[in-house]
Amino acid sequence: MRLIIRDDAEASSSYVANYIINRIKNFAPTPAHPFVLGLPTGSSPLGVYRILVERYKAGEISFENVITFNMDEYIGIPRDHPESYHSFMYKHFFSHVNIHPNHVHILNGNAPNLEAECVAYEAKIKASGGIDLFLAGIGEDGHIAFNEPGSSLASRTRIKTLAYDTILANSRFFDNDLAQVPKMALTVGVQTVLEAREVVVIILGARKALALQRCIEQGVNHMWTLSSLQLHPHPMIVCDEDATLELQVKTVKYFKSIEKVASEQGFEQILPSAVRTGSGNRAAAPAVVTVDEVQSPTILSPQPTTSRLLRPTTPAAEYPVRSVSPDFELVPDRMASRLPDPSFAARRLTPNPEEREERERERHQVPRTVWVGAVGV
Ligand code: GLP
Repeated sequence: MRLIIRDDAEASSSYVANYIINRIKNFAPTPAHPFVLGLPTGSSPLGVYRILVERYKAGEISFENVITFNMDEYIGIPRDHPESYHSFMYKHFFSHVNIHPNHVHILNGNAPNLEAECVAYEAKIKASGGIDLFLAGIGEDGHIAFNEPGSSLASRTRIKTLAYDTILANSRFFDNDLAQVPKMALTVGVQTVLEAREVVVIILGARKALALQRCIEQGVNHMWTLSSLQLHPHPMIVCDEDATLELQVKTVKYFKSIEKVASEQGFEQILPSAVRTGSGNRAAAPAVVTVDEVQSPTILSPQPTTSRLLRPTTPAAEYPVRSVSPDFELVPDRMASRLPDPSFAARRLTPNPEEREERERERHQVPRTVWVGAVGV
């Protein structure tokens, strides 16, 4: 986990935009080898989109060979509704850059069969080779995409009922009228995000401070779905100072020191070369979902309970390898048997009942007891 802390929203957005631009440039995408970018909506990424557009207009980056997958979309409002995520994305980003419309993927919240739409979305992600970098924001309750508190950490793209807090938070986009806010959405799952080769999250403002604290200082917990990033090999959170308000001083100092050392060494995030360049067999990368899962006919099918990230298939050279067990069988032993003086060890062992009797007999010089029925002779 990298936590990058910047003074304010502008500096945080600038960091993320630069990071994405550098990643795309270093990846050097082509039509046959596109860069696959996952994208969020919300106010948090607005600065990132603005800077990406500016840099595109300055001729510094091209999105020609970039494929995008958005995280989520409301169910039941028209695609051209001003607050649909389709409208949001075209208004703030897609209309201003040279991305091919066929390369844009956003869930259709008006699809006749929403369940099939979700299954097809996962299949499209797979067909594109998996997501290289998923950019995300979070909700105040720590949700990632629309994976509300209590979402399965093994979840995939599906229909989701929105939490009351989210409906309340999003009512600011619907004239503060709760009745107008959609109550359901389609969203990529936690597992869909975790399977991206890299995840970058932008978190701005004091109202996200508690969520950030829960997600990085405490354990993995489905009530704060961003915390699932702790299971990802390459997560990066970029936040402003306000978002760190609930963090311990030592946490802030730790991550700042890590960033300082990393930048002195000349890097921002350590990525295996296969992730950085998209080289190698993309279909075989650990981030990619298997065919059997996406071809599953229903989202009601049982979901995997263990993250595939815990079973990486990447070459050992790219990841630390588990130490090799010795050839001999490992058997539990008693600490006393390791003591250098065997007689001392023997004395310290807790004797079993027969041994205890034998010792007592030796101590008191009494003959051995033989039991016959209930009578000792
Ligand atoms: C919605 C989106 C999330 C986004 C969140 C935060 O809930 N589904 O993907 O992260 O809003 O929005 P904001 O950045 O405006 O706080």
